[in-house]
Amino acid sequence: MHLPIRPRRNRQSPAIRDLVRETVLRPADFIYPLFIQEGEANTPIKAMPGCQRWCLRDLVTEAGEAHALGIPAVVLFPRIPDELKTPAAAECHNDDGLVPRAIRALKAAHPALAVITDVALDPYNSDGHDGLVSPDGRILNDETLAVLCQQALCHARAGADIVAPSDMMDGRVAALRSALDHEGHQAVSILSYAVKYASAYYGPFRGALDSAPKAGDKKTYQMDPANAREALREAALDEAEGADMLMVKPAGPYLDILAALRSTTTLPLAAYQVSGEYLMIKAGAAAGWLDEEKVMLESLLGIRRAGADMILTYFAKKAAALLL
Ligand code: PBG
Repeated sequence: MHLPIRPRRNRQSPAIRDLVRETVLRPADFIYPLFIQEGEANTPIKAMPGCQRWCLRDLVTEAGEAHALGIPAVVLFPRIPDELKTPAAAECHNDDGLVPRAIRALKAAHPALAVITDVALDPYNSDGHDGLVSPDGRILNDETLAVLCQQALCHARAGADIVAPSDMMDGRVAALRSALDHEGHQAVSILSYAVKYASAYYGPFRGALDSAPKAGDKKTYQMDPANAREALREAALDEAEGADMLMVKPAGPYLDILAALRSTTTLPLAAYQVSGEYLMIKAGAAAGWLDEEKVMLESLLGIRRAGADMILTYFAKKAAALLL
């Protein structure tokens, strides 16, 4: 048959498929999220099979293994003991707190590994919200910014390379940039969770850190999953306020948002494959219904193809080991 255009010619052998491949996954694309806790022992996280809350000694080992696989960065999430949680969340800027100690230990052992920290009050706040809560239950914006600045400064003093505000308060990127610069931390980058949706996919993470809101939900600060134009507005604001990199979260169900942002910003884009996305693949594989490795790599490739330069994923180590 005379058929001059045959797309299958470009798929006919591994060699030709290699030549025409548009997107590649590399260990250098991954940011590895790590949960940390006080004490000398690790605790497996029941709701997130394959993940642990690490004690600081083993955190350093785990991060070193990840770095040796080519992963350039880790991001830390602390489990704060209940007795240190207060309505003012003051533990978030204690220079001897869990996160600054973890940063110092990581930078001492692996100076070339980039350490990213989450800037938000939820692990420290007895109310379980990302911002301060007023007596009548409102999430306070401007009062929260002052505390977030103290938290980011505490991380910067300990040696964090990148601070990542995940709280979705208005004006936080500008506030953090100015606080960091005033203390001489011009080199500390801001990776803004610019577009963070109020998502049910965060459920397992909140279980891991015991950080679910005590009352209400996060819908007055995290975005409505129905909205896409609003994502462009949030991203443009954070860019104007001085963000160095922008994030979309969750990743898999929001690939349209990533693609839209890719065409409207020149900033590097991150996407967070969150706990619920991870768990769906783990659960499907545990039931014998999915090939874990193949679905994992395909899910990550899809996030890259949609426009993410870097992906926060609990699969980072496993995926990097397969891609080496
Ligand atoms: C909190 C924070 C959350 C996640 C990262 N930082 C949870 C939330 O906003 O309630 C979720 C990550 C995941 O589900 O893997 N500031």
